[in-house]
Amino acid sequence: MTQVVHTRAELAEARAALKGTVGVVMTMGALHSGHETLLRAARDQVDHVLVTIFVNPLQFGPNEDFDRYPRTLDADLEVCRRAGADLVFAPSVADMYPDGQPRVRLDPGPLGGELEGASRPGFFHGVLTVVLKLLQLTRPDLAFFGEKDYQQLTLVRRMARDLDVPVEVIGVPTVREPDGLALSSRNRYLSEPERAAALSLSAALRAGARAADDGRDAGEVLSAAHAAFGAGAPGAQLDYLVLTDPELEPGPVSGPARLVIAAWVGTTRLIDNAAIHLAPRA
Ligand code: PAJ
Repeated sequence: MTQVVHTRAELAEARAALKGTVGVVMTMGALHSGHETLLRAARDQVDHVLVTIFVNPLQFGPNEDFDRYPRTLDADLEVCRRAGADLVFAPSVADMYPDGQPRVRLDPGPLGGELEGASRPGFFHGVLTVVLKLLQLTRPDLAFFGEKDYQQLTLVRRMARDLDVPVEVIGVPTVREPDGLALSSRNRYLSEPERAAALSLSAALRAGARAADDGRDAGEVLSAAHAAFGAGAPGAQLDYLVLTDPELEPGPVSGPARLVIAAWVGTTRLIDNAAIHLAPRA
């Protein structure tokens, strides 16, 4: 049985009734198999799975897609039921932010201004603020986040560590379409030619990973990734393609690394990333 609550008072009551371990999966809805995989990972590891569905206005810039972000609550609840969620919290904006926009927000630190943060000012302030609020409201033992949003996962881990938030953050590998496209709620904005162009992102990551497996150095890995991106169907505009440390710390990389990419396809911004294993430098 999946219980659905919409207000923080209802949540408090339903949460208090959950005995045993609780895992939370936070989402903005428009659920797809990527989200479902997070729910199933949680199902395997805790007694009770709690899902939050909230399109957080704080993490959308003035020219971003807050108004047109897909809202599909009935279908989302069906996914939650199918995946065995115990409790769904789907609050309104007024319930989450009763005093309007919060004056106090979390500062994501230097990494918050890099990569996604460079293109989307204030984005990670908004993400971490709502994630911390939802952690306080749901009080989970474990919180599940997708590697698809790798910088978000890294910053949530960092926040939990730096601020002693009593939760274990679990990363879940990216779920992809058979042709490599990472599942995303924003994929539904793509026309057919745009979807073909969107394959350039995963193609770049695959080429980079292959070059690393062949023993190439960091510069060659990046060149291979750029070449594969450029060879894809036309229509994808690269924002960044960066080979970095697995914690997204600045500095030279060797051994385990992460290749992260963002691109515009028409008016849709897509991101992806992959683990890379560079041969250690001699
Ligand atoms: P949303 O984009 O709905 O994603 C919710 C969770 O699902 C995130 O942890 C995300 O990384 C994960 N996810 C999305 N696509 C995935 C895929 N293809 N494979 C694996 N996991 C995937 O991320 C957010 O919402 C918001 O920023 C949120 C954390 C809810 C705060 O508002």
